[in-house]
Amino acid sequence: MGGCVTQPAYDFESISLEWLHSKPGAKWHRTPDAIAAWVADMDFAPAPAITAALTGAIATGDLGYPDWRSIVGESGATDAFVDRCERRYGWQINASDTREFNDVVQAIQLVLHTCTSPGDGVVVHSPTYPPFLNSIETTGCRLVPIPAQRTESSPTGWAFDYDALESTLRGQPARVLLLCHPQNPTGHVFSDDELRALAALAERHDLLIISDEIHADLTYSPHVHRPMALFAPDRTVSIHAASKAFNLAGMRYAIAHFGSQVARKAANALPEHLLGATNLMGAVAVEAAWRDGDEWLAAVLAHLDRQRLLLAELLAEHLPQVKYVPPAATYLAWLDCRALPYGDDPSIKFLERGVRLSEGPNFGSEGIGFARLNFATSSTVLREIVARMRPLAA
Ligand SMILES: Cc1ncc(COP(=O)(O)O)c(C=O)c1O
Repeated sequence: MGGCVTQPAYDFESISLEWLHSKPGAKWHRTPDAIAAWVADMDFAPAPAITAALTGAIATGDLGYPDWRSIVGESGATDAFVDRCERRYGWQINASDTREFNDVVQAIQLVLHTCTSPGDGVVVHSPTYPPFLNSIETTGCRLVPIPAQRTESSPTGWAFDYDALESTLRGQPARVLLLCHPQNPTGHVFSDDELRALAALAERHDLLIISDEIHADLTYSPHVHRPMALFAPDRTVSIHAASKAFNLAGMRYAIAHFGSQVARKAANALPEHLLGATNLMGAVAVEAAWRDGDEWLAAVLAHLDRQRLLLAELLAEHLPQVKYVPPAATYLAWLDCRALPYGDDPSIKFLERGVRLSEGPNFGSEGIGFARLNFATSSTVLREIVARMRPLAA
């Protein structure tokens, strides 16, 4: 783990490639010969409030069992989550309806395992974050995709055909709507009208909604994140984490709110220790992020906003064949590379040139010919990424 130089917490620009390559995490360590623009970690040091809270926890000299209300959770991070939901979204919830997890995908899989039977349909906007596809497959469920369509007329550049979904569901009923809200990899932010329509559709077809809102804090103005649970309170399980917006994926902390009684009962029926308990340091870091991290979050979001627009300029100049609409949320760019002669998985060609992107086909059949680029880095590194992606002169 040694060898890392520290990075000033509010300086998102002076990141050296030497520092990045010395980082021990998966993003950079797995790609020693390439610039890493794949997995959804940012290249920035944590917010000062988080570093101070973690250091403070170590300084107490007590890393024993935390004095939380119960072994399965309800740490200070739970209270910070409840306060934050009210403050940011006017969403009033009780701590007793929440449950802490080690990560978001664990919570998704728990709900799928406890609330579906093999063969049940799970509706998903597609292309899709790959572990969604894997979770549906391993629970023996059936994927019901809603394909994304590029359109100038939508504020985010993306639209979904809910009339087509309606008629699909009339012929082949489903059990769950697994929402990625905001959507990875398109960066689509669901509008109030869309959320209202989805809630009505879920009501008509009796769908349980699992709403993964891990990217919520990475929504760019004028788009606004609104929790799905505001629209379908009794049939939604909402899952949140600070991992993406505060760059804390290694801290292993997520929290789910069970608006659905059915899902809550099913989760509570599991043996108490089956899923283990939350990690002390994860809860400490997330509590600090959610209580004291907003100033840092605003600064990082302003930087990412510049990066998503810079990427549009760089691609227009150097790779005009690649179609890109700046995402309305997330630091992930969904690149349509089908006009390049790079085949189904263009990331292979980009890796040969020294940049690792995420493989489009892993996001489902709508990802064929696409690649996902993580722009949560400095403008200098982003320029280098696009310079390397550029086709070599013949
Ligand atoms: C939509 C979405 N959900 C979940 C995750 C992973 O979260 P976790 O590590 O908490 O399972 C990611 C990571 O990129 C993601 O994009």
